[in-house]
Amino acid sequence: MNLDLSSALLPVPTGAYQISSLPTERSLAFSLVVPTYNESRNIGQIVEILTQLLDQALPNDYELIVVDDDSPDRTWEVAQRLLPTYPQLRVMRRQSDRGLSTAVIRGWQGAHGEILGVIDGDLQHPPEVLLKLLHALRTGADLAVASRHVEGGGTSDWGFIRRFLSRGAQLVGLIILPGVVGRVSDPMSGYFMVRRSAIAQCLLNPLGYKILLEVIGRGQIQRIAEVGYVFQERQAGESKVTWKQYVEYLVHLVKLRSRGRISRLNETFQIGRFLRFGLVGLSGFVVDMAAFYFLRTSFTLGIARSTILSAELAVVNNFCWNDLWTFGDVAREQPKKRQRLKRFLKFNAVCLMGIILQTLLVSAMYDLFQISEFVAKPIAIAIVTFWNFWINLKLSWRVTDVQ
Ligand code: GDD
Ligand code: MN
Repeated sequence: MNLDLSSALLPVPTGAYQISSLPTERSLAFSLVVPTYNESRNIGQIVEILTQLLDQALPNDYELIVVDDDSPDRTWEVAQRLLPTYPQLRVMRRQSDRGLSTAVIRGWQGAHGEILGVIDGDLQHPPEVLLKLLHALRTGADLAVASRHVEGGGTSDWGFIRRFLSRGAQLVGLIILPGVVGRVSDPMSGYFMVRRSAIAQCLLNPLGYKILLEVIGRGQIQRIAEVGYVFQERQAGESKVTWKQYVEYLVHLVKLRSRGRISRLNETFQIGRFLRFGLVGLSGFVVDMAAFYFLRTSFTLGIARSTILSAELAVVNNFCWNDLWTFGDVAREQPKKRQRLKRFLKFNAVCLMGIILQTLLVSAMYDLFQISEFVAKPIAIAIVTFWNFWINLKLSWRVTDVQ
């Protein structure tokens, strides 16, 4: 029974990627997260080395947290079997999510340390450097980063292309986000420690591979220390880096740079909704033209009647798509037939206003400014589309039945 308890896996935190201020139960000096994916051949060795080091430096005052993303090679199971041997070891098996950064954050969320650290699980980060990083934090640094680009640092045997990609990524980072990337010599490092208080309560963004950018970009980091290290060659297993990580890195930089500006912009202007509205408008144009053609040729209806009828068909078409798709979220909250009918009538009124507005605009541009009607018309359509969208957003798909 005792054995059962000590072999239990750590529960995986859920919800926001936010680290709490105070370690919940008993606090420890240091928690070191080891993210793993298919590292079954390395995990035993790294746990042993780290334990030896930390048992000396911080006896009973640290924990090792392996966060495995349900590796196909069952790294989590191999680690779990080590639990009875290493009392400071914890193992988290994540089954719902994948990704290096989120794994690290989930690990820290389950940690009790006042200092939070991360180290790769493949022995490419030399474990002895830990002691220097710890020392830096204990002498006042908020963040200590193991760096390949300071005294004592380097890469063991990297080819030109790998060096080029790594430095290129750093350069791009410096251009897009100098205030964050420029603060350290090795912003790509995945080997560092940070004071919990410096990142607690910050809402972290779980994107990508480079968790250090997130820590510097969103945390309250005053003093930074760097310790040189030589990036070792992998002994077993393989790297998980693909082109996807480079793309994610770029998106990550832009996100950090805009820091919610994009989402605020979207809140105000509803960019996605507007694009959907525009697409629906385009489909309406096709319906309008096709109906007009058939009414004129197959039904030999007069010009005026064909125009009105085909336009109304387009309005019905647009209403259906907008109600289901563009404003679907709003519409679903008001599902009654009467409410839908109200929206439909309002939408008709807005469209009619739009046609009148368009006519006025084209005539004004043509008559007053001598702009060709074929230039004036698309300009007018663009203006009216904005107008229609705005009015529909504020009017048609609002609460229609206040109780
Ligand atoms: N839980 C989890 N989930 N762990 C992962 C995942 C994932 O999706 N992807 C990778 N890992 C683990 C690996 O098992 C390894 O322990 C560590 O994260 C680093 O992954 P590698 O794939 O070995 O990365 P690398 O060696 O190419 O790149 C390293 O290079 C940088 C220096 O430029 C990264 O480790 C960086 O942290 C390091 O600073
Ligand atoms: Mn590696």
